[in-house]
Amino acid sequence: MRIIETIAEWKLIKRSSRGSWGLIPTMGFLHDGHLSLIRRGCSENENTIVSIFINPTQFGQGEDLAQYPKAIESDLEALRREGVDVVFLPSTQEMYPSGFDTLVVPGDLAIRLEGRSRPNHLTGVATVVCKLFSIFQPDRAYFGQKDFQQYLVIDRISRDLNLGVEVVLGETIRSSDGLALSSRNSYLSDTERLAAGILYQALTKAHYLYRNGARNCKDLKDAMMSIINSEHVVSLDYLSIGNVETLDELEVIETTAIITIAAWVGSARLIDNIYLSE
Ligand code: PAJ
Repeated sequence: MRIIETIAEWKLIKRSSRGSWGLIPTMGFLHDGHLSLIRRGCSENENTIVSIFINPTQFGQGEDLAQYPKAIESDLEALRREGVDVVFLPSTQEMYPSGFDTLVVPGDLAIRLEGRSRPNHLTGVATVVCKLFSIFQPDRAYFGQKDFQQYLVIDRISRDLNLGVEVVLGETIRSSDGLALSSRNSYLSDTERLAAGILYQALTKAHYLYRNGARNCKDLKDAMMSIINSEHVVSLDYLSIGNVETLDELEVIETTAIITIAAWVGSARLIDNIYLSE
């Protein structure tokens, strides 16, 4: 496994490589959610590259950029075990040299949900992912369903800007009580960690009602809210039932929908979603 810190090192590798490349962008502190994307990348491509970069432009003022968890040695060990070919560990200076002055601003897909709660977050994500696509020009890039809006935005950008990267969606990996794995779960105290399971309980309740014929979004949201409100350390940021392609809010589900939730559990802001389809 090659560990590189600069774009110049990558150019030398790319020049002498053969076959397809799969890219898995991450911010490190790797868990099984990341690893499932990495395994898929390894199985679908001849070569895999994983980037680990805590991207400052996607964090807002007062957010957790400075505290974001790091575990570079154990991350590298896990990547070695998975058979990853290249790990890209750039400095902030390498990604944003002085004078950097360009942003990739996604459109309507990014104004709601995370876009409303975290202004500029998806612009920061879009900018760094575009840079990674442009640097590595991978055949495929892998993103998790846990961050479904992020996936939609990046898929849209890859098509709109003809970046030629196939954007692949990987399933959400969960712990035994259903909580979606997230680097930010490390912020939770024991009590908060127990309480956080309520988010998935609310999502699965809605899924159950949908499977039994419920189609009215207000009814589904009411059922979810009564579960969420039973846990005092959980405070809801948003709950949305939207169109799976545009994220436009729905009143009645015709066929499919995506239920997206964001909530504060103590000092951790967690997001999750569930796909409803017949
Ligand atoms: P990060 O939070 O490290 O996540 C990296 C990738 O892992 C993302 O595609 C995310 O959706 C996926 N992922 C996280 N938790 C997951 C889970 N429980 N199951 C499956 N996949 C999961 O998302 C980012 O970093 C950044 O925004 C990034 C895309 C790297 C740009 O900076």
